[in-house]
Amino acid sequence: WKSLDEMELDGKRVLTRVDLNVPVEDGRVTDTTRIDRIVPTVHDILARGGTPVLLAHFGRPKGKRVEAMSLEQVRPALERALGRDVRFGTDCIGADAAAAIVAGEVTLLENTRFHPGEEANDPAFADALAELGDVYCNDAFSAAHRAHGSTEGLARRLPSCAGRLMAEELSALEAALGTPTRPLMAVVGGAKVSTKIDLLSNLVRKVNHLVIGGGMANTFLAAKGIDVGRSLAEHEMTDTARDILQRADEAGCEILLPSDVVVAREFRAGADAATVPADQCPADAMILDTGPDSVARILRAMDGCRTLIWNGPLGAFEIEPFDAATNAAAAHAARLTRAGKLVSVAGGGDTVAALNRAGAADDFTYISSAGGAFLEWMEGKTLPGVAALDA
Ligand code: 3PG
Repeated sequence: WKSLDEMELDGKRVLTRVDLNVPVEDGRVTDTTRIDRIVPTVHDILARGGTPVLLAHFGRPKGKRVEAMSLEQVRPALERALGRDVRFGTDCIGADAAAAIVAGEVTLLENTRFHPGEEANDPAFADALAELGDVYCNDAFSAAHRAHGSTEGLARRLPSCAGRLMAEELSALEAALGTPTRPLMAVVGGAKVSTKIDLLSNLVRKVNHLVIGGGMANTFLAAKGIDVGRSLAEHEMTDTARDILQRADEAGCEILLPSDVVVAREFRAGADAATVPADQCPADAMILDTGPDSVARILRAMDGCRTLIWNGPLGAFEIEPFDAATNAAAAHAARLTRAGKLVSVAGGGDTVAALNRAGAADDFTYISSAGGAFLEWMEGKTLPGVAALDA
């Protein structure tokens, strides 16, 4: 892919795909991370004489105009982040969009997903978008797993490049999983094995140590014949889990599963919790966190690693005391990173929330802005929005 530096921007309308799919409550943006991270690209385009025309989706309106999903509500936060006025086009194609664009100003166009042609990647829709620009810049790594009109379609129609954030994401992730300094550890948590089969299958071939935590660890324990009581577990996935364990063994990847666990009879803050060996979960209890002995083993293995990739919490981190394992492992990764001993990369919705909660996110080497795209990239998939950019 080409970088923004390689493009001629002076006097050009630069159609810039950004990800403004941010959390909004009562019409106000509650987390501006994604907005803040596109600022360098927009400022750069302006500084080089270009006219940024921002394209983005918001929510999943399924091809219809849904006022509650208008990007107009994101405009004030965007203006604050950019430190300047942003014009707004009430449509992303046609005369209304064209009329909103003024040379040298920033324009935000309405939600691309108000048109069915966006998700269908309809050539006529992509043609209509392409009419509004001279150059295409994709700065939405987090939407690059979608082959949509404003991601894949546009890149095939205009001279195209990766924006600053996109380039940063691709370089950081490539350094972590493509050409990592070894030993390499991956931490994978979250509720279900079924949503992460491709991820685990890819990782066992690439990493030296794979820590499995969260609800999905229970499925692996069950696969080893352990009774997990009332824990969240996908009993129909135990064959798959056994297959992953076998493949890890063949590839020389060490899997770290909990050897002790924190159990409770209720999932609520301050519930009576006990730590027991992983094979002694009472029949009427649930495993809600990885236990302290297992955490100590994870930290020791991490001490020997040079690179860490993290996706998913180790326990039910939203509720105390079940956040202990996630917090301890996150704090340790942060310490090693601060000391220059570890390159740490994390991504995925819950993961970033968990690291923020642990106060560790700021110390990580790189935090991806992506959820689903980070996962697909870690699964080893080609992201269509990246593949379509000019080489
Ligand atoms: C995200 O929020 O992860 C991206 O914006 C993609 O959104 P989507 O899952 O609705 O395509």
